[in-house]
Amino acid sequence: MDRPVRWGIIGLGKIAHKFAHDLLLVKNSKLQGVASRSQSKAEIFAKQYNAQSIYGSYKDLITDPNIDAVYIATPHSYHKQNSLDCLAHGKAVLCEKPMGIDQIEVKEMADFAKEHNILLMEAMWSVFHPHFSFVKQKCEEGDFGKIRFLSADFGFLPEFDPNGRLYKKELGGGSLLDIGIYPIFIALYLLGEPKDISASATFYDSGADSSCTMKFDYGDGVIANLKSTLLEDTPTTCTIEFERATVIMHRRFHMPTSITITSRGLKEAKEFESIGYGYAHEIIHFNKLFREGLKESPVMPLSMSLTLSKTMDKVKNIIGLSYAKK
Ligand SMILES: NC(=O)c1ccc[n+]([C@@H]2O[C@H](COP(=O)([O-])OP(=O)(O)OC[C@H]3O[C@@H](n4cnc5c(N)ncnc54)[C@H](OP(=O)(O)O)[C@@H]3O)[C@@H](O)[C@H]2O)c1
Repeated sequence: MDRPVRWGIIGLGKIAHKFAHDLLLVKNSKLQGVASRSQSKAEIFAKQYNAQSIYGSYKDLITDPNIDAVYIATPHSYHKQNSLDCLAHGKAVLCEKPMGIDQIEVKEMADFAKEHNILLMEAMWSVFHPHFSFVKQKCEEGDFGKIRFLSADFGFLPEFDPNGRLYKKELGGGSLLDIGIYPIFIALYLLGEPKDISASATFYDSGADSSCTMKFDYGDGVIANLKSTLLEDTPTTCTIEFERATVIMHRRFHMPTSITITSRGLKEAKEFESIGYGYAHEIIHFNKLFREGLKESPVMPLSMSLTLSKTMDKVKNIIGLSYAKK
């Protein structure tokens, strides 16, 4: 396929702006169309990022035959339906994290994509950043030995907005789904699934969690301490203690950043190249999958999205958090 991959974006909020900015930096792809619930918002967005088709309804973008791939940037509780609607119309889907509210939703999405033979990937952008692959490679090479301890946090103090998606439970609000997913992801990515999980949380009046601390126990003394919070601005770093080295992924560890490796008393700082805000890396990967006709990413496979949602469900059960509609 020689022509550019033609992208559409659904839900023109904060992250959609960053994604559109980075999409313009990626060769052989273009922003074909954008869709908002508001026509005027879509018009302003389209002008800013030079999108050709402007839609005041998501459905109109989904049925546009000139769109190949759709980036879903709506609140968590809409991810499943928006993705299924796109997949049903033959669009490849890059869906923001978390792909679904729980593992039942994620499984339904993965099964649908497989059944209809269409590309679906969760937009876990971190895994496409060079510092993530560097650390993963170090784990596989084994020079540093095995991981004995990992700690990762993600916390910030947003302005309280009772109508915002971080607070509202019906939009999938709370710290765990929004930012806890990153510390959990790095633990799963580097250490796999834990043998045991303990967790505790605090809650907003809405019932969404305002903070969550987790301990993943891998047996043989190997532990991951993880934390998400909307109550404090935390370092948002990740420390990985191997048998023969310690690696620190600096603030904020989930996005393009530097790392420090300390081994046998020697400290080495490592910098990595990044494109745009860092979303370009996942776009380049997704474009390649699309062009090659692949239906799943080998780097961020649907099995990983399922494990991620299954693990978050375990944490939710422990802290007594449920998004089931009453
Ligand atoms: N990868 C990352 O680094 C990253 C960073 C931040 C967020 N995210 C993810 O991206 C998604 C969107 O986050 P965001 O921060 O961009 O949120 P946001 O600013 O609130 O934007 C979400 C957009 O979804 C649309 N929407 C549809 N139904 C809605 C409803 N009932 N209430 C509110 N908005 C609704 C709106 O777009 P229209 O008005 O145009 O329809 C809204 O602007 C979330 O899943 C989040 O986890 C990822």
